[in-house]
Amino acid sequence: MSLRAFIEQARQAGYLVEIHREVSPRLELARVAAVLDGRPVLFHRVTGSKFPVIVGAGSAREYYALGLGVEVGHLAAKLMEALEHPKPPEVTESGACQQVVERNVDLDRLPILTHLPTDPAPYITAGVAIIRDPDYGRNVSFHRLMVTGPRTVVARIVEGRGTDTAWRKAHDGLPIAICVGNSLPVLLAASMSPPKGVDELGIANAMQPTSLVQCKTVNLQVPAESEFVLEGHITHQLANEGPFLDLTETMDFVRRQPVIEIDCITHRRDAIYQALLPGKLEHKLLMGMPKEPTIFAAVSQVCECRDVVITPGGTSWLHAVVSIVKRDPEDGRRAIEAAFAGHGSLKHVVVVDDDIHIHDPVQVEWAIATRFQASRDLAVLTDQPGSSLDPSATHVPGQKTRTAKMGLDATIPWGANRKEYEKMRYEKIEAREYLNTGQSLDQ
Ligand SMILES: Cc1cc2nc3c(=O)[nH]c(=O)nc-3n(C[C@H](O)[C@H](O)[C@H](O)COP(=O)(O)O)c2cc1C
Repeated sequence: MSLRAFIEQARQAGYLVEIHREVSPRLELARVAAVLDGRPVLFHRVTGSKFPVIVGAGSAREYYALGLGVEVGHLAAKLMEALEHPKPPEVTESGACQQVVERNVDLDRLPILTHLPTDPAPYITAGVAIIRDPDYGRNVSFHRLMVTGPRTVVARIVEGRGTDTAWRKAHDGLPIAICVGNSLPVLLAASMSPPKGVDELGIANAMQPTSLVQCKTVNLQVPAESEFVLEGHITHQLANEGPFLDLTETMDFVRRQPVIEIDCITHRRDAIYQALLPGKLEHKLLMGMPKEPTIFAAVSQVCECRDVVITPGGTSWLHAVVSIVKRDPEDGRRAIEAAFAGHGSLKHVVVVDDDIHIHDPVQVEWAIATRFQASRDLAVLTDQPGSSLDPSATHVPGQKTRTAKMGLDATIPWGANRKEYEKMRYEKIEAREYLNTGQSLDQ
């Protein structure tokens, strides 16, 4: 289902917020979207551009469930199924994303947002980049793009990932197609890190049919239903990128990053520009949610895993809670190790029994308070490869970030009397029956 079909679905379901008042893409739009975080917001009139802007299409699990036609509780299984069984997408002769072809490129025509007063330039934040690696084939991932001219952007390309390794092999520059205005399956697939050689668009197609169309100026294929496609190449020229707000809600620092030249823009006749607020819920969910099934799969190899959540307080990237059914004294420790293997950027993990509701931070903290002893149940790993996003980690330019990791086994100790560890509950009664007539519990 295309992004615009999802917007219509969100409108029907009552989720969509529509803003008809004219809004400036410079600071104002991001501020309005920020206070409405968690809702899809469609800005119909944006100063200086004829294109409307959607923000927050993927800012709650309910929207992915709606778009993919599953229950919220079945999302992880749906993602896992698609990750394990990608389907090669069909290639069509023509695509809606090419209704208009602009070879006279001018990025100023797009309603690209400036988010914070400290931003060095406007940033494209919801662009899904498609490149081809000579050894591994197509790679699809997000790259934030700082606009530096009418046809140039500087991309943040994390070292060692798919785009970076392909770019280093392409001495004459790497052809790239950046899709803006994507379906939820394409957004989710671009956020995943499948094994090298696995096509993310095959994963998107396994979630929902996602047909492709050949680009006009580069030998790449893009989802035909995209709203905009920016075709060009990643050069070997470097320029300053940042500072820019990141997932952690802290400022990422300035780095020398590759310049991309845009040679052609194709778009739908009435295209909708998509933006994503850095550090807000959509960014967090897209980063964290696809890691839950990979942690689940890794933990399931060593013990019985019931559920996994990447928590928003942990920036939806650095912290996870895993619930298991403990059948062996070593299961808690094994689950900690497996969780780190299932998500390389994970920094802290808490393992609990399956009586703990892992989406409730109070319950997780209760398990730590009543079942965990640091001298017995804490695993600390020093000098590990870590996340480039963590300001507290050790960052050396050109090298993988290093960090310490910590796992808390907050499961009931093996051999203990389980009754002593179970939460006692009062039987539920109707309190109103005990009140005086006319007395109310409402504040
Ligand atoms: C919303 C969002 C924004 C992202 N921004 C960037 C970015 O600016 N640069 C980058 O290299 N990765 C970024 N990522 C991460 C990559 O898209 C993601 O890790 C991807 O899975 C990498 O895949 P690969 O290892 O196959 O290349 C972002 C992810 C999301 C969900």
